[in-house]
Amino acid sequence: MNAVVVYESLWGNTAAVAGAIAEGLGDGARALSTSAADAAAIQGVDLIVAGAPLLGFTLPTEQMRAGIATNPGMGAPKPDLSAPSMRSWLDELPAGSARFAAFETRIWWSPGSAPKHIAAALEAKGYRQLAPSEKFVVTGKFGPLKAGELERAKAWGAALARQFG
Ligand SMILES: Cc1cc2nc3c(=O)[nH]c(=O)nc-3n(C[C@H](O)[C@H](O)[C@H](O)COP(=O)(O)O)c2cc1C
Repeated sequence: MNAVVVYESLWGNTAAVAGAIAEGLGDGARALSTSAADAAAIQGVDLIVAGAPLLGFTLPTEQMRAGIATNPGMGAPKPDLSAPSMRSWLDELPAGSARFAAFETRIWWSPGSAPKHIAAALEAKGYRQLAPSEKFVVTGKFGPLKAGELERAKAWGAALARQFG
């Protein structure tokens, strides 16, 4: 299996989860930001695992990211906006038939879903969902991840690999 984990991450939580999922997938799976996951990196992959934070109850929009860039808020850690949004990465992705799974990082009680948008975009391009989406929880607005979430992410990656067969 040739798998990549693609992530959007402004404060590092989703990037950390993506790394743990790739570790769990094993077999040389790589975690790549939306800027590293270019056409060459995606060519020939059998499994795409795509993840993003839940911001404002949805997959981050360009408008939200622009707002965060100009006004990150009092005491906010500096966001990394150097990589494209997951939305624009999905727009640029060529059609394909590989399997996929989606995940988000979020506060546990929040309404909304980022994976819902990721899955809809991938399905519209012909990709086929391997497993239900997963959520990984942070304990504050900017993180950190709740204790045990990286272990759970690694286990989820391993479960995806088994399911892929
Ligand atoms: C401006 C802002 C809006 C957020 N909106 C939500 C939200 O609607 N629901 C939620 O569960 N978490 C929300 N969060 C928490 C983020 O989803 C969480 O910190 C996430 O792990 C950030 O991922 P990243 O570190 O990979 O960028 C928000 C955080 C920020 C800073």
